Amino acid sequence: MSVSAPKRSLNIDNINPHIKVAKYAVRGELATRSEKYRAQLAKGEGKDLPFDTVINANIGNPQQLDQKPITFFRQVASLLENPLLLENAGVLEKSFGYKKDVIERAKWLLESVKSVGAYSQSNGAPGFRQSVAEYIERRDGYPSSPDNIYLSAGASSGVNALLHIICSSPETGLLIPIPQYPLYTASLAVLNAKCVPYYLDESKAWGTDITAIKDALAKARSEGTDVRAIVVINPGNPTGASLSTEDMASVLEFAANEGLVVMADEVYQTNVFEGEFTSFKKALRDLQKSDANKDGKFDALELASLHSISKGMVGECGHRGGYFELVGFDEEVVAELYKFISIQLCPPVIGQCMVEMMVHPPKEGDPSYPLYKQEYNDIFANLQKRATALYDAFREMEGVECQSPQGAMYLFPKINLPSGAISAAKAADRTPDEFYASKLLDATGVCVVPGNGFGQKEGTMHFRTTFLAPGTDWVGRIMKFHKSFMDEYREAKTNGVNGHA
Ligand SMILES: Cc1ncc(COP(=O)(O)O)c(C=O)c1O
Repeated sequence: MSVSAPKRSLNIDNINPHIKVAKYAVRGELATRSEKYRAQLAKGEGKDLPFDTVINANIGNPQQLDQKPITFFRQVASLLENPLLLENAGVLEKSFGYKKDVIERAKWLLESVKSVGAYSQSNGAPGFRQSVAEYIERRDGYPSSPDNIYLSAGASSGVNALLHIICSSPETGLLIPIPQYPLYTASLAVLNAKCVPYYLDESKAWGTDITAIKDALAKARSEGTDVRAIVVINPGNPTGASLSTEDMASVLEFAANEGLVVMADEVYQTNVFEGEFTSFKKALRDLQKSDANKDGKFDALELASLHSISKGMVGECGHRGGYFELVGFDEEVVAELYKFISIQLCPPVIGQCMVEMMVHPPKEGDPSYPLYKQEYNDIFANLQKRATALYDAFREMEGVECQSPQGAMYLFPKINLPSGAISAAKAADRTPDEFYASKLLDATGVCVVPGNGFGQKEGTMHFRTTFLAPGTDWVGRIMKFHKSFMDEYREAKTNGVNGHA
């Protein structure tokens, strides 16, 4: 008697089709292959591999690489997780070097939430939202209210909540910068809404090109798309660019004229190497005060700005903390947003505590300040050093063009590949940048993300690499690979060889 296979309810053809079309390259095929290599090496089975370590330069995951957690944050967190330790404050101070402000902060955070094992308010503990508002005020020189602050499980969950509110039908569209961090296109795909791409200007250090934005809007509207918002990522991922204040003002003016919500993703606001960070909130408040607002057009502009504990010198992405601030939103819309985030109950409470510490770190005169400052500055200096070393290497590489590192954690060089490589990629059924990145991984163990994972102008090729990995050996590996790749395919071009898949 044959036993028939149990019949499952779910199969690939009957699950939510919008999930299937979503793409998220930063954790895509190459990342999976790099994990396989890593596992092989760990088991001592990778003798045939031409490298002995895998470098995950594909994802901005600071502590997975070299970045150490900031001591103040973790000392406080240890007490939050195990408040019994607070009964032995003397031992903490004498034997473990915990300073008084660590103990005081842990006590205050615990008073605010009772226990990190308890749910908090849906938008985060009130005292922490107050600290965020004070941080924004110090940063921008303009008031901020804790009532407009929403703590979140990283910026991703803030983006997710905002997109759920904005996307009301399959015709809803959002203007998304290209290249972009694929959270945006993937989430829009899942929500069955439209991405309206606007291309950043590589020739102007990846700045915004207002004509390109206007054209993108006009085209989308003519096709029946109901464009509701514009997303800006500043400093940029994957571009690493910082927008000029002029670019910011023209985006705000455009949004005000066209009645669009502005979503400003500012998770890299402390990763700025050139000039000073200016927030969209400040840029908006400046415009609201200026002559440009004679007709009051900036008064009703809706701005949502997002920040996170994942990046910067904090790098606590595993703890999932962030916040967004809303400016100018209708009360009834806000009430629905509140309901939406309540369905998720609340952001992780330890993550909320980390947000509080990020926006309210030890200050001059506090016992933990010297170490905090030193750790913070060291992390910043190291990131800058690595960014510059990588940039210098790219400048030496044939056919590679790269913008100087301005901010964030990435470089996004353009690669001009020989036609032999392009034919070989075609034969391997890959785009040329996927082909290049795939060969790079197989030859060196360095995992980067091909440019098409972020979007790029037709006919151009890029890859994104973080500059988080320690040492310079891996940069040397990229350079050596690049040279041999170019040599191989330059020759392939003349020989007509394309069988290198
Ligand atoms: C531009 C941008 N926004 C948002 C995120 C998500 O950050 P979080 O860890 O806070 O969810 C990232 C992560 O890399 C990012 O690069």
